Amino acid sequence: MGFHTFDPEKAAKLEDAGRYRYVSREELLARLDLGADETVADLGSGTGFYTDDVADFGEASNVGVYAVDMQDAMHDYYREKGVPENVALVTATIDDLPFDDDELDAAFSTMTFHEFASEDALAEVGRVLRPDGRLVVADWSADGRGESGPPVEERYDLETARELLTAAGFEVESGRERPETFVLVARR
Ligand SMILES: C[S@@+](CC[C@H](N)C(=O)[O-])C[C@H]1O[C@@H](n2cnc3c(N)ncnc32)[C@H](O)[C@@H]1O
Repeated sequence: MGFHTFDPEKAAKLEDAGRYRYVSREELLARLDLGADETVADLGSGTGFYTDDVADFGEASNVGVYAVDMQDAMHDYYREKGVPENVALVTATIDDLPFDDDELDAAFSTMTFHEFASEDALAEVGRVLRPDGRLVVADWSADGRGESGPPVEERYDLETARELLTAAGFEVESGRERPETFVLVARR
């Protein structure tokens, strides 16, 4: 399952700092809780708006970041913007990731879960995360107001996201519904 894929022609919209109204850099970094030398993947990285925040924070502690997106046009936008040294661009779909078993310490996905959340994709994320590895998901909620983001009928709510992740073998250790979005932290 998964709803429509983001249109690369609208890529510039993803660079709007007003997006922090819904998911801030601070909350993303706090929930990821990265340690030194860890490897993390941004699943559905788009223009790298949030990838940059994680890369910037992790640079001093030798954190490596994979920016994973299935659309080369999104990576092209990111390249033009400038890709930090500790970010590697990966063109792949989330249900077929070019990583070894247990390779990642953590992964995150912002505003994209509704586009990729199939059984195969979640199983694949579980395969590449190490045991106890963290997955942080922030996305538009089906319980939201619909004032911004995709139509509410193209979204999941927190409980459905929890069920999908639990069925894929994750343990959801925290989750919150907010006015327009949900955020959760799961462990493999
Ligand atoms: C709404 S954009 C969000 C981008 C970024 N996470 C952000 O918050 O700025 C969703 C991105 O996920 C990518 N995407 C959607 N489904 C995907 C999949 N199954 N595998 C890889 N990338 C995917 C799209 O190409 C698009 O660039």
